[in-house]
Parts: sequence; structure tokens; C-alpha cells
Amino acid sequence: MLSENAKKEIEAALRKYPNKRSAVMDALRAAQKGCGGHLTKEDMDEVAAILEMQAVEVNAAAAFYTMYNIDKPVGRYHVQVCRNISCSLLGAEHLIKHMERTLNIKTGETTPDKKFTLSTVECLGSCGTAPMMQINDDYHENLTEAKVDEILKGLE
Ligand code: FES
Repeated sequence: MLSENAKKEIEAALRKYPNKRSAVMDALRAAQKGCGGHLTKEDMDEVAAILEMQAVEVNAAAAFYTMYNIDKPVGRYHVQVCRNISCSLLGAEHLIKHMERTLNIKTGETTPDKKFTLSTVECLGSCGTAPMMQINDDYHENLTEAKVDEILKGLE
């Protein structure tokens, strides 16, 4: 069930667009934020009802983008490492292995304390500052192992 905050954010988003369905990305983001960082089928059904869309259309939009976590709770910090071409050429695979060792989890897993989820994603549009990762809403760029260590240590 959508939180009251999520509903308010969706209402605000609806005022920004010429038609309801154009707000689908904002609505999904609001729904996810209000539901512990992931989307359930019920959340997406509710978004579909508000936007007067078919549930399958909303589900397809959510499934297409890696920023939405469908039926998969994530940790307090969702670490998404780009592994597309620019980032890979500049060491993303080494960084991913380093983070797996540091966090003691495999890609796709969440630490037992639910603090970190480690994922890999396709290009995040920051190729000029590769290798990079996104943690929740923040980009971290020009990464090295030392910089990753510092960033992860700084997250409480
Ligand atoms: S390839 Fe990593 S941001 Fe584009």
C-alpha cells in the first residue's frame, strides 16, 4: 500500500505533466521511496490506478529501468556499480570484486545487517568520469579501490 508521502509526491508529479501517464517514472520513484526501497505488485497496481494506466504498462516501465527494485528489498545503501563499456575498460570489474570482498557478499546480495545491497547496472550516463557507481541517489565517480573504501566507510 502506498504511503501517504508517496501519494502526495505522486499528486505533485501529476501537476508537472500534461497527462497522467507521463508521471509514471516520478510515481514509481515516489512509491519505491515510500516502501523501503522496493516496489511490490500492489504498489504498482496502485500507481496504475492513480495514473489511469494498465497495470502491465506500469510493470513494464518499472521492469525496464534498473533504478526500480521490483519485489526485492534492498539494503539501506543500494550500491549500484556500472559495468558498461567505459567503466569496464577503466576497472569496474576489479572494483566489483573489491566491494564483494569488502562487504563479504556477492553481487545481487544484501549484507546480513541490511545495510548494503551490491548490484551491477548498465551505463548510468557518466562515462566521462568512469569508473563510477551510484549509491541511493548519489553518483560517485573516478573511483579507485581507496576511494571506494573511503565512501563505504563514510556511510553510517
Ligand atoms: S559506461 Fe559507466 S557510466 Fe557509462
